[in-house]
Amino acid sequence: MSNGTAALHLASLVLLKETDKVLTTPNSFLATSNAILYAKAKPIFVDIYENGNIDLDLCEEYLKNDNTIKAIYVVHFSGGNPVNQDKLKYLKEKYNIKILEDCAHSLGASFNDIKAGSCTNSDISIFSFHPVKNMTTGEGGAITTNSKEIYEKLLSLRNHGMVKTKDMRPWEYEMQELGFNYRITDIQSTLGLSQLKKLNKFY
Ligand SMILES: Cc1ncc(COP(=O)(O)O)c(C=O)c1O
Repeated sequence: MSNGTAALHLASLVLLKETDKVLTTPNSFLATSNAILYAKAKPIFVDIYENGNIDLDLCEEYLKNDNTIKAIYVVHFSGGNPVNQDKLKYLKEKYNIKILEDCAHSLGASFNDIKAGSCTNSDISIFSFHPVKNMTTGEGGAITTNSKEIYEKLLSLRNHGMVKTKDMRPWEYEMQELGFNYRITDIQSTLGLSQLKKLNKFY
């Protein structure tokens, strides 16, 4: 992805419907909650624990009282400080909600051997490779998911909603939905791949 904000934008278009309510943290860069607004959904800010992460116990209080809440956007705040994955799993299963992990600060971090961004207990994770992050490509981002359906939808949205099939001539394509140019460049990707090899040294 071209940057973490673009990743959040597409993730929100895939995960959310207009008017969905989404629990999220006030302790983040503005892009996390803006992405909820891009999808015309409604962010609800939930207080944080002392470690800076969203208070998942408080999230449960909200979920108990309002079944129009459809998702939680968590941010693993600051490098090496991921949210509690056991609680994420519990909330996802009990309340049947979608979960997005914003891993912009946490590439390489893990909670009880569960890597931030592995989507073990979430639908989608996003990363940013902005220069202030613990690994950079100049500007850049990425999305991870374990769902083939989400992956294919994201590939289309990232590339103008354009589709090419085998029976088409080389110059032909169809635009089947309204998409964006949110591609990262090959040059940035090459830098990122070389940086990834050094990730363990950055921690
Ligand atoms: C928590 C968080 N989410 C998302 C972003 C957005 O990433 P980008 O700057 O690559 O658009 C940032 C970047 O600063 C961030 O800190």
